[in-house]
Amino acid sequence: MLLTDDEKRMRDGADGDAVAAAMDLLVRYGEALGAERLVATRNVAGTMTQPSPAKAKLHAEGGWARVYAVTNLDCDRDIEIPRMRVPTCQLQHGFAQDAAGLTSYPESSIAAQDDAEAFFSDRGVTVLATCTPYQVGNLPVRGEHCAWMESSAVVYCNSVLGARTNCEGSASTGAAALTGRIPYWGNHVPENRAATHVVRADVPVASFQEWGMLGYFVGEQVQEARPAVIGELGQPDLADLKHFGAATATSGGVELYHLPGITPEAPTLEAAFLGDAVPRDEIVYDRAARRAVYDALNAQGSSEDVDFILLGCPHASLDQLAEIARLLDGKRLHQDTELWVMTPRALRSVADRSGYTRAITAAGGRVLTDSCPAMSRAAPPGTRVFATDSAKQAHYLPAILGIEAWFGTLEECVDAAVTGRWSGGLAA
Ligand code: F3S
Repeated sequence: MLLTDDEKRMRDGADGDAVAAAMDLLVRYGEALGAERLVATRNVAGTMTQPSPAKAKLHAEGGWARVYAVTNLDCDRDIEIPRMRVPTCQLQHGFAQDAAGLTSYPESSIAAQDDAEAFFSDRGVTVLATCTPYQVGNLPVRGEHCAWMESSAVVYCNSVLGARTNCEGSASTGAAALTGRIPYWGNHVPENRAATHVVRADVPVASFQEWGMLGYFVGEQVQEARPAVIGELGQPDLADLKHFGAATATSGGVELYHLPGITPEAPTLEAAFLGDAVPRDEIVYDRAARRAVYDALNAQGSSEDVDFILLGCPHASLDQLAEIARLLDGKRLHQDTELWVMTPRALRSVADRSGYTRAITAAGGRVLTDSCPAMSRAAPPGTRVFATDSAKQAHYLPAILGIEAWFGTLEECVDAAVTGRWSGGLAA
């Protein structure tokens, strides 16, 4: 690993023990990956405040400094944690105060998280508390080197914004935050960003649900490769692309896709391949494939009595909140259903001022922040059957909580919330 003079200084302790531990971790990590050098970053999205039983034990031993040393720096010594060297944000974490008493999620974890927020914000961490940092102030520009965690955010960062990040972990982001460095490999290297496959949609993809299903298909087909997606694609908006990318990273491990005309590096299909020949073999998404995806996402649904509806995965945009409020206007949830909409704190505040929260809560729903049932492993007590418009949540929640799942459109989910019954079905 070639280090600059500044990096050697950090490694040798000139900026303190924590920075030295961070640089040591990055060198070990980079060498394991085969990276020859580090690259400067000024944009880190990681996780420090998320509580866990292991962190509670470390906290009892030596406070949040010990938690950060062990969890984020792989360091077993007692060290001071200084201010982050570069702009760093906290991604989603556990449920916040607004969910207190609504689930079996422990209130002690909420209190621990509040305590962690105070510690880390004192050290320069911006507590965005969302899986969609790009919706609330962390919007990297094309070509910018980032160190982000959270698969749905990583794929959006690379593919929609044209910035560059691998799917990092809590240790590598913790070390990047203190050094402003990350190994130069994978998606940071221009030639590694060329498309590998062509996926052609032969059915129209022009709604939130359709983008989610196409994403689920693409991920399943290409796994961790880099697809270029063409065909009967309508103009997607932010919510469509956040759903699409999250789905590709759920059924597969896509970190970068190319949508010619949308992905900044791919004005054309040919450009997506960076000068290599475009493969003749195309993976085709047709009616049968669409039906198979829909059936897979609904394979865990059996009872039509729904008791929980989950919207906002990835965290809801303002447009989604406005639409949910509109659909619920003048309605009342069924007495046996709960409706949660997950959104970033910052957008919740705009939703409060814009009347969206009022409309949703007047109907009996809740707008919650910071987390989600999959992340915090908790849903309303007694939940047996849930419905969602998110392919990611439909994929994970049955396995995490042992409950049934229905996947459908936003309208179908709101209908289930109001009637207590699932009546969704795949439109022709
Ligand atoms: Fe976000 Fe939870 Fe979905 S963290 S991407 S709402 S699984």
